Amino acid sequence: MTDYSDSFINKLLGQMTLEEKIGQLNQVNPDERLDTDFIRLGKTGSLINASGALTGQGSSESVGPELTNYLQQIAMESRLKIPLIFGRDVIHGYRTVFPIPLAQAAAFNPELARNAASIAAQEASASGIKWTFAPMLDIARDPRWGRVAEGNGEDPYLGSLMAASLVMGFQGDDMALPNKLVACAKHYVGYGSAEGGRDYDNGEISEPTLRDVYLPPFESAVRAGVGTIMSAFLDLNSVPATANHHLLTDVLRGEWGFDGFVVSDWESVGELIYHGVAENRAEAASIALHAGVDMDMVSQAYLDTLATSVQSGKVSVKEIDEAVLRILRIKHRAGLFDHPYTDPNRFAREVLTDGSRQLARQFARESMVLLKNNGDILPLRDFRKILIAGDFVNATTELFGTWSPDGRAGDVISLQQGIKDVAPKGVDFWFAENVDQALVYGIQADAIVLVLGEHPRRSGENANLSDLSLPPGQAEFVDLMVTLGKPVVLVIFAGRPLVITCQLAQVDALLYAWHPGIEGGAALGEILFGTKYPSGRLPITFPRATGQVPIYYNHKNSGRPVTLDGEFKSRYIDLPNPPLLPFGFGLSYTSFEYSNPELSQQILHDNILITAEITNTGKQAGTELVQLYVRDLVGSLTRPIRELKGFQLIELKPGESRRVSFSLTEEMLAFTRADGSKGVEPGGFQVWIAPDSASGLCAEFSL
Ligand code: NOJ
Repeated sequence: MTDYSDSFINKLLGQMTLEEKIGQLNQVNPDERLDTDFIRLGKTGSLINASGALTGQGSSESVGPELTNYLQQIAMESRLKIPLIFGRDVIHGYRTVFPIPLAQAAAFNPELARNAASIAAQEASASGIKWTFAPMLDIARDPRWGRVAEGNGEDPYLGSLMAASLVMGFQGDDMALPNKLVACAKHYVGYGSAEGGRDYDNGEISEPTLRDVYLPPFESAVRAGVGTIMSAFLDLNSVPATANHHLLTDVLRGEWGFDGFVVSDWESVGELIYHGVAENRAEAASIALHAGVDMDMVSQAYLDTLATSVQSGKVSVKEIDEAVLRILRIKHRAGLFDHPYTDPNRFAREVLTDGSRQLARQFARESMVLLKNNGDILPLRDFRKILIAGDFVNATTELFGTWSPDGRAGDVISLQQGIKDVAPKGVDFWFAENVDQALVYGIQADAIVLVLGEHPRRSGENANLSDLSLPPGQAEFVDLMVTLGKPVVLVIFAGRPLVITCQLAQVDALLYAWHPGIEGGAALGEILFGTKYPSGRLPITFPRATGQVPIYYNHKNSGRPVTLDGEFKSRYIDLPNPPLLPFGFGLSYTSFEYSNPELSQQILHDNILITAEITNTGKQAGTELVQLYVRDLVGSLTRPIRELKGFQLIELKPGESRRVSFSLTEEMLAFTRADGSKGVEPGGFQVWIAPDSASGLCAEFSL
């Protein structure tokens, strides 16, 4: 059994020169500069994007162990033989591309996310990568922000469960195992609050909201043993996140006991100059190091300036030692000292297996959300001639979504193939990308499936929008197709909630498919033709109009909550207040009824049981996401009108009923109180067992 205590590291630290120590704090982007002497001299602690960097990004060849082993060999020629750690953005799969993270959250199935992360770890580690810059845990309340695609949506409870599962999936019980990665919880913290949805912009979050909404997923990742944390780009409450000593040191290490290391985001150390808190790179480096950023991602400010700052007394060797210790601790815990190389035979065996493809298909299916199904038009049954039309009709890699550098076009099941493979015999298809063709075929078709939405590059980092409508031309496409008077099913691929108010009213059925990954085409076919049924639910609120954002279900009541008569209430005069579709919403191919709510007692002492009966009242089997919400009616600080506290996916046959029960403990009701402490306050609560955040059966109890 390897000794993971710090004695090994401390001994090593004692042998290191100041230059070698600073080298460990330096992460290099070999795309821009690969100086092997740099590695040999111990001036590099980590390489980023290393597997693809030298072979031309996006090329289909040789992301592989030969390169990482070659570079590691050079590190092994350095004086102290300290291994490199290779980092890469393995965000939603490696070669097996799973649905984008927001879609994964829509499956409300953290276990599935854990299994997918475990496969991503197996594949990436087979190429020598040992560290992923995932999971992204930023709560997102504003879908204009392009990076909403990369996270788990708006809810801290779901976000915290996903955080723990993803960390455990990537790292397993022992991150030293050859098929595991070190995870990185990012972007600490508040990055999703960027004003106006503009990536990298400033954010303002009150202390209670930071504590109760934005920090919990990170705390959950730390409790799950995450090895590293990435500091965010943004200026939060007038302190750049990369310079925030309070959050990076007092909270993260002091309060939560995090003992891994913090890496900056890309050049965010150097960017402290632009934020206006540092005059030059030396000052930027010392501020970031002092705040608690251990590794400098590519700005090289640490490498270039820290030694001089030590000489001038601006930085202490002790501070540098602490950062080195944390980095070496994780390298050690990750088994890199014992096994610096990757077994080159693993790649062929362990990448893109049948099992990983099956999981990708299941995940894609379970992440798709049925938003409308008038007259049970889905699944497609008695139609013989079907037109599939729209911008995504020839989709292959477009199904991958943002951050999928290791996905390959040749591996993907195209949308057309996926649909044809599952369709019953005797169904004829036309496929049409443009409106003219679509009109010609549409006239002759029995049913029309429109496949529209946003290209993967329209969401993700810095792909922000001021207008959440469908991309240009697509609304008109829908307008024209519905004039044909045929049943119309709209499938939308997207990395965020788009504003689909008009389209939802126009079409017969609407399926939100996100960017579903490598098996997305097959999963779509299965759902359209009913060999499987949809069970995804919205992990984020869908606005009626862009002007409604930020919009989220767990908002505060205000002193003037909106009422039917509306005057002088918190509302718009040109839009109803409720969103188009609430958090938690999603339909099935059957219907469910909720009845007979019961509480085990009226007063919560240690714990209270809340139960209700759920019945499948339709003609098909189906999976329902039963959700538990609470509202704390009076507090020393204002409380959200609802908060998710639990959920269960249950599968019911037609006519079957089940009593679902949730246990609510005092601890689950804790919040940040007026005096800054976390805990509960006595008083009344409402509780709902519900199919979404805007409806359900309500009961009351007190504490
Ligand atoms: C910048 C992004 O903000 C971060 O999420 C990513 O991990 C790094 N670049 C590395 O690619």
